[in-house]
Amino acid sequence: MRSLTEMLVFFSVASTGWALVHFGLYRGLRHAFPEKKRKPFIAALFVGFSLAPLSMLLARTSVATRVVETFSRIAFIEAGFVSLIFILLVLRWLGSLLARPFASKVKTARRDFLRRASDLAIALTALVIGGTGIATAMREPQIIRVPIRLPRLGEPFRGYRIVQLSDFHIGPAFREEGVRLVVDKVNALKPDLVVITGDLIDGYVHELRPHVAPLADLKARDGVYFATGNHEYYWGGEEWIRHLEELGIPTLRNEARLIERDGDGLIIAGCTDYRMGRSIKGDASDPQKALEGLPRALPRILLAHQPQSVYQAAEAGYDLQLSGHTHGGQFFPFTWLIHLVQPFVAGLDRHGDTQLYVNRGTGFWGPAMRHGGEGEITEILLDKLEEEAVVRSEGLEEDASPGPNLRPESVRAHAMKEV
Ligand SMILES: [Fe+2]
Repeated sequence: MRSLTEMLVFFSVASTGWALVHFGLYRGLRHAFPEKKRKPFIAALFVGFSLAPLSMLLARTSVATRVVETFSRIAFIEAGFVSLIFILLVLRWLGSLLARPFASKVKTARRDFLRRASDLAIALTALVIGGTGIATAMREPQIIRVPIRLPRLGEPFRGYRIVQLSDFHIGPAFREEGVRLVVDKVNALKPDLVVITGDLIDGYVHELRPHVAPLADLKARDGVYFATGNHEYYWGGEEWIRHLEELGIPTLRNEARLIERDGDGLIIAGCTDYRMGRSIKGDASDPQKALEGLPRALPRILLAHQPQSVYQAAEAGYDLQLSGHTHGGQFFPFTWLIHLVQPFVAGLDRHGDTQLYVNRGTGFWGPAMRHGGEGEITEILLDKLEEEAVVRSEGLEEDASPGPNLRPESVRAHAMKEV
């Protein structure tokens, strides 16, 4: 978990940034109100600004869950619309910079009219974009089918189906009904394996117990596995890992499982969150460690919440990494801005010999707004590359001793296979 100092620093920096954004709104829209009637506008901005930090504080207190939920929803929606208006104001400001050489030729009255017309246009555009974003977020998550070819896949695993869920953010906005709906959709697919790649929750176990309960009903022939995201560590990471285990969902903490089919195998590994894993002693993200003692000839799939783990995954020789975390930017303007900080935003990509699939998020975080598509349930269909025979014959002799990350039953099968 984050230390108190880290929390205070985060809270102070985030609140200052948020205050500046609201000040930007005041600067950009103040002319929309006559000078003597600006007080209600300033008061509304101040109340709007206070909502987000207050909801963050309330979420850490013992105030009734329902009150916190309602407050959070209002605060998040305000944050969504404020972000939209802010970016539109920035775009208008950039436009006005470009138009400056011609401004002196335009009469003052006409300039005032243009400013007011653009204020109105910004408000309407924000309403339309925000409204469509809310409507999209409210729709059911969609199933996205993704065929992926792996070079070392054995014949028995052709057509193997993995359902990936990610970034539910079960909390104030994503509740039991939503989780139940996703579970039913997943079970209808009759997958071979279900994986959840982190950021499952936004709240403590005692608050969210009934809302995560439907996850116990997920059904897959080879089980359901979890890898931690950054948000698990904000809300009592160890307690969540224990609770998920009780629901029949083991967490792969830099460890792996060997899945067997007709004498062949597939390695499913998981690492802790790229950055936050280290907040628990001995839990720093280590995709390489997860492979200790496993044969190099078998295909390797890594569950890693943050896409940037792919650099370590490629070094460790994984064939495929399944990630989430980005939400594809989730809503405008972040659907644009995310490309400035994330090299892998959504969909299928590759780094070196490692393929990477980034799920856009089954749920959402913050404002109930989505642009660029509904929540995602990924159905991955594995197939093999036909030219895999040469690769597969390599490395059978390497790392042959079963290591500490294999379960006893897998160790037996693994030993039999290698003999
Ligand atoms: Fe995340």
